[in-house]
Amino acid sequence: MRSHDPAELQELARAFIDAVAPADAAIVVTLSGDLGAGKTTFAQGVARALGVTETVSSPTFVIEKVYALSDQQWDRFIHIDAYRLNSSHELMVLGWNELIADSKNIIVLEWPERVSDLIPKHAVQIRFDIKNEERIITINGQEN
Ligand SMILES: Nc1ncnc2c1ncn2[C@@H]1O[C@H](COP(=O)(O)OP(=O)(O)OP(=O)(O)O)[C@@H](O)[C@H]1O
Ligand SMILES: [Mg+2]
Repeated sequence: MRSHDPAELQELARAFIDAVAPADAAIVVTLSGDLGAGKTTFAQGVARALGVTETVSSPTFVIEKVYALSDQQWDRFIHIDAYRLNSSHELMVLGWNELIADSKNIIVLEWPERVSDLIPKHAVQIRFDIKNEERIITINGQEN
């Protein structure tokens, strides 16, 4: 997939999340790509599709933000930016194991490379590549 502008990327995020069904553990979506590739923009699209009305800003400085959801399959949208984490241990301290075990959580994590040993096998891996104003989106290794 390709997106030509941020609004279109958010629409792709909506279509993506609408197609995800609850499982027996949290939904974990990892977002990879360079600075400015569109990870936070995609997370904002997911949040909006889940009915989050608060502004979803980059959680770079707070690492993790939790949004309560209502009227749907998940109870919480959790947005994590691992860019500033120096070790997986720092994610463990945030209660990562409990977060990923809870099937009521939907977790979107930027910069998974910082904590790669803690990413569960069932995570959906999305990658954004910058091509001028376009963004090329690859899901689990496939550009669909
Ligand atoms: N086709 C596009 N899709 C998404 N964003 C685009 C596109 N073209 C340009 N942009 C710009 O790219 C930037 C994407 O920013 P965003 O915060 O989503 O990136 P990020 O991957 O989260 O970066 P960081 O690693 O710093 O957290 C925005 O400034 C946006 O306006
Ligand atoms: Mg970001």
